[in-house]
Amino acid sequence: MERQEICNEMRLCFPSYSANEGFARACAAAFCAQSNPTFDELSDIKCAVSEAVTNAIVHGYRSTVGDVYMTMRMTEDRVVRIEIRDKGCGIEDVQKALQPLYTTDPANERSGMGFTVIENFMDSMRVVSTPGKGTKVIMTKKLTVIPRIRG
Ligand SMILES: Nc1ncnc2c1ncn2[C@@H]1O[C@H](COP(=O)(O)OP(=O)(O)OP(=O)(O)O)[C@@H](O)[C@H]1O
Ligand SMILES: [Mg+2]
Repeated sequence: MERQEICNEMRLCFPSYSANEGFARACAAAFCAQSNPTFDELSDIKCAVSEAVTNAIVHGYRSTVGDVYMTMRMTEDRVVRIEIRDKGCGIEDVQKALQPLYTTDPANERSGMGFTVIENFMDSMRVVSTPGKGTKVIMTKKLTVIPRIRG
């Protein structure tokens, strides 16, 4: 597949404090806002980022603290690509983890719907994980083109 021209990108690294879930979501929204997304597209992206970052914080690092890495790219044809990575415990069985309602943490009122939300809100999602090494979630979404209003 032909590589699309990148028109902007950013890299962020923050500790896995729960307060940083909101920070990551706001950064993702600010990055995408430059490309004039619709309100719904922005809400979907913020939700997806929240789910992936929360997973890194609560599952990847559990009661420890480690770094969460977020990179974002926007291409000329308005495809936003977001990668969220941790160096936490990793996932033993990714296929199982992707199933709706599957959670390893039911005691803390987790519903096992995070990955399902990401899959539904974004155009694509890929999860790469190595037990003991960490997890990477890569998601993309194409923004619709809105004609500029003059005046
Ligand atoms: N970054 C991660 N590191 C380690 N395990 C993960 C990570 N992300 C997800 N998982 C595993 O995949 C399972 C499913 O994740 P998912 O986000 O779908 O549900 P959940 O986090 O358990 O619940 P919810 O997101 O609805 O609160 C988790 O319960 C956890 O076992
Ligand atoms: Mg989750």
